[in-house]
Amino acid sequence: MQTVVVDHPIVRTRLSVMRDETSSNAEFRAALRELSTLLVYEATRELPVTELPVTTPVGPTLGTTLANPPLLVPVLRAGLGMAEAAFNLLPESQMGFVGLARNEESHLPEAYMSSLPDTLAGRPVLVLDPMLATGGSLVHCCGLLASRGAADITVICALVAPEGLATVERSGLASRLFTASIDEGLNANAYIVPGLGDAGDRQFGPR
Ligand code: URA
Repeated sequence: MQTVVVDHPIVRTRLSVMRDETSSNAEFRAALRELSTLLVYEATRELPVTELPVTTPVGPTLGTTLANPPLLVPVLRAGLGMAEAAFNLLPESQMGFVGLARNEESHLPEAYMSSLPDTLAGRPVLVLDPMLATGGSLVHCCGLLASRGAADITVICALVAPEGLATVERSGLASRLFTASIDEGLNANAYIVPGLGDAGDRQFGPR
């Protein structure tokens, strides 16, 4: 798996707003949206394109269109905050949804919904999930996608823990992962340290 830490001053400023415990829900959502734009921009750098003729007011030239726009898959609920940014950059894409919740005692993922095309063979997929902690949820999600034929999965996370990164790597299901930071590790409750807390609660308020 190719792992890319997108190191850019603007990325670091948005991540700092998200980490700051005094940021409001609205400030957190705005920072995640902007960070997602930057991460998706980097993650789509190598997407195949097709040339197409375009006529400007001055004359003909060659333009570019995406040859095979990726399916966007935000992992509910925290990935919802990345969906709009990705869709804005890739308006020709389609969006699927996977709903996974972490059991707070076992820390194991539980799928409560999936809404995906029947077949994903030949389609690149962008999975949007802000936090890669133990990796259990993400591997579960990638497994659902792979069972429908997806073989080109790019994962986009705001933050990752080394433990989760190793789990996703071992699964062999993702081709590449883009993130703003590889943090120190996990605490006893499987939260990323220093992390930013619960990315769902920080966006939408506590359950
Ligand atoms: N999910 C979160 O939202 N935060 C963490 O630190 C770990 C998992």
